Amino acid sequence: YTAELDASDIEKGTYPHYMLKEIDEQPVVVRNIIQNYQAENGSLKIDEDILSAMKDADRIYIIAAGTSYHAGLVGKQFIERMAKIPVEVHISSEFGYNMPLLSEKPLFIFISQSGETADSRQVLVQVKELGHKALTITNVPGSTLSREADYTLLLHAGPEIAVASTKAYTAQLAVLAILAQVSGRSKGIETDLDLVKELGIVASAMEALCDSKEEFESIAREYLSVTRNAFFIGRGIDFYVGLEGSLKLKEISYIQAEGFAGGELKHGTIALIEEGTPIIALATQDFVNLSIRGNVKEVVARGANPCIISMEGLEMEGDRFVIPEVHHLLTPLISVVPLQLIAYYAALHRDCDVDKPRNLAKSVTVE
Ligand code: G6P
Repeated sequence: YTAELDASDIEKGTYPHYMLKEIDEQPVVVRNIIQNYQAENGSLKIDEDILSAMKDADRIYIIAAGTSYHAGLVGKQFIERMAKIPVEVHISSEFGYNMPLLSEKPLFIFISQSGETADSRQVLVQVKELGHKALTITNVPGSTLSREADYTLLLHAGPEIAVASTKAYTAQLAVLAILAQVSGRSKGIETDLDLVKELGIVASAMEALCDSKEEFESIAREYLSVTRNAFFIGRGIDFYVGLEGSLKLKEISYIQAEGFAGGELKHGTIALIEEGTPIIALATQDFVNLSIRGNVKEVVARGANPCIISMEGLEMEGDRFVIPEVHHLLTPLISVVPLQLIAYYAALHRDCDVDKPRNLAKSVTVE
């Protein structure tokens, strides 16, 4: 398999929707990324000029919108842990007004599936004027953000047609993990993570999840067919995946959905919990497993209808679905898959236009 575009990549084939096809493509995309970023000796590689820009940077500023912003939040964890460079993540449309005090040697990373988002481009123009270096992580070679940045890393995900982004998100995470680890290594930082092997395990886990579609269809039916709203909670990186899960759900099913950090719920949002309010909780992180379950108890006591998605090894009685075990840093690549599928089926059950939701565009080229 190669990432080259052929006719089958832009046709739905036997799929009823592009979104479902693109969700199913995720294991292939992850394997494709491994191949594209592997040197002949099998180790992961990134262009030398990008590595030296990472090495020179005293702080990284990730700029992105929508789903790509959510990938940036996880990317910050990867880069800080594996490359030991401080990272700030900013929403592109806000950056211009709220520009933080920049460090002495900043490196800007733009994450954009399309490479065309106007809000992000505006920031790129601004930082180039200030004389700073920029790297674009995009799915589209030759896109505006790719052409105008100093460096580009490609997602190799093949064309993404559905407006709601799925495979681009997981591809962004895989590329960010590779960038983080290879950058760390180039500075002599070793991580206890065999990324080639672990991403292979992620791809197989994604396959297993894509084979469990009936489960997610029934979760969508049970929790989301009549509700007006839904909440996603998690702690640590599960919180960031919850933000993406809630965005998927609101984009295509029009259910009012919000993602919250488990511990923040009690500081306001818990007031919204009523009898039957669906709460989708992620529990993939050992160190917060008990605390997120404590948060679930708090909302259940107020009538919420909990749907706990946990990971093998951390599961407890009553969990609604258990995802296969993967390395604890890489869980966002697979815990998002159930959320994508739940959103897909929720939209389907509500007769929504899955691939072309109202009011949304695939790429927003106006500010
Ligand atoms: C639009 C799309 C979103 C996407 C966002 C950023 O709002 O509807 O799905 O996440 O733009 O797009 P980008 O191409 O920059 O990743």
